[in-house]
Amino acid sequence: MKQKSPGPCYFVIFGATGNLATDKLLPALYHLEAAGRIHEELRFIALARRDWSQDDWRMHLERVLRDRLGESFDVDPCARLGSRFEYVSGDYNDPTAYANLMEALSRPRAGTCENIIFYLAIRPPDFLEVVTQLHKTGFSGSFARHRIVVEKPFGEDIDSAKALNIRLHKHFTEEQIFRIDHYLGKETVQNLLVFRFANTLIEPVWNRNYIDHVQITVAEDKGIGNRAAYFDQAGALRDMVQNHLMQLLTVVAMEPPAMLDADALRDEKVKVLRSIRPIPMRAIGTHALRAQYGPGTVAGKSVPGYQDEPGVSEQSTTETYVAAKFYIDNWRWRGVPFYLRTGKRMAQSMSAISIRFRHPPQQLFRETPLENIEPNWIVLSLQPHESMHMELHAKQPGLEMNTRVVKLMASFREEDGKLLDAYETLLLDVIEGDRSLFLRFDEVEWAWRVVDPILRHWAKETEFIHSYPAGSWGPGEAARLFDSEDQDWRNTI
Ligand code: BG6
Repeated sequence: MKQKSPGPCYFVIFGATGNLATDKLLPALYHLEAAGRIHEELRFIALARRDWSQDDWRMHLERVLRDRLGESFDVDPCARLGSRFEYVSGDYNDPTAYANLMEALSRPRAGTCENIIFYLAIRPPDFLEVVTQLHKTGFSGSFARHRIVVEKPFGEDIDSAKALNIRLHKHFTEEQIFRIDHYLGKETVQNLLVFRFANTLIEPVWNRNYIDHVQITVAEDKGIGNRAAYFDQAGALRDMVQNHLMQLLTVVAMEPPAMLDADALRDEKVKVLRSIRPIPMRAIGTHALRAQYGPGTVAGKSVPGYQDEPGVSEQSTTETYVAAKFYIDNWRWRGVPFYLRTGKRMAQSMSAISIRFRHPPQQLFRETPLENIEPNWIVLSLQPHESMHMELHAKQPGLEMNTRVVKLMASFREEDGKLLDAYETLLLDVIEGDRSLFLRFDEVEWAWRVVDPILRHWAKETEFIHSYPAGSWGPGEAARLFDSEDQDWRNTI
């Protein structure tokens, strides 16, 4: 489908040669280009430190895309995308870079284009510097169509998040700030909204009367790669739980919004976050556990432990794994534990929301081989596949009263469906100015409030951290979070 042009628009990528741009943004832009979803008047500016010519940048772009896309790479969309780009070399801490940027933006037409997106694919500590420089150069709140996109983590705790927000607001209005959490762009997360609110069947059982507990797992088999400088400061609680996992929790737990507009949706998510029971300091140990991977084997290959990763100190107690339990004190969820877990270098990459239902109230099959009948589950998988299934019991055909679990399965993607990542959806939304899937500051603030006691508690414990072998499902101690003996981590989809 060819996109209708909303007029000239520039999309400036700060940190165009960094990890985020390389792994996520450039492949997503390629997919959008290949699908004809980028309107003809959209131009990109790649800003980075390297002293490159336009040709150097185009060669880099092609190399990155070939490498990331493998067999699905095609020269044509790559060339089309490349021709929309201009490379501007400069250090974003240096005012000259902004003068160069201004020149590039003004060049094709007289005066400055008003519709400009500034994507800060850079280290969070540098956000403020860039925003201040943008303001000084004349880009900011006075042009309603200048937007900035900031990645998570937004701040490093509740106080720094508030301070960052105040300072961003000095130059940009809330409508201009797009706080991205790419998990909200994932197909399964959007499908969860449809699944919950478009099916009469689901809503009556989606509550404390029928649900025993909820598990949210985001496990990755990869380690920290070359991100030690960032990750060793952040840790998994800031990197994953405060944002991605908390957002998944809100979408599972929220009430139906009055309508599907950005604010109605976000109001409901904030209500969930505000209803999460604060964990008292003395109870952190029974509600949250952190750990770090040691050496081990992942997919048949030996890998080093976290402390041996390049750039990580041998004494580091930064967590690469977090398991935590939260309660939502409202009418729908009171008493239902939400178990959240994430880790690097786990046995496999697997992300899922698993909802376990209660046992039937009557043990009708007590005297039969069905005595230990497993409860029902609904599993929404984010990766490796995007799917949803329900586990129900059915009788095995035959004379005996034996059961088997049947899976009612729905794959969210056609077998030959294009593998689009969350970033495609979110980049289109930014270009079109749709804020529904971006975070409002109160969401960020309340999510920090939830994890803040855990952060503060762990900040004091600098001597010890649990460990798990790389390639495992995390430390055995995480089982202590469960409220009842028949609950356990679900490691399969
Ligand atoms: C990022 C985190 O936000 O999400 C990374 O900083 C993590 O540490 C990544 O690996 C996971 O995203 P995805 O889309 O690959 O599941």
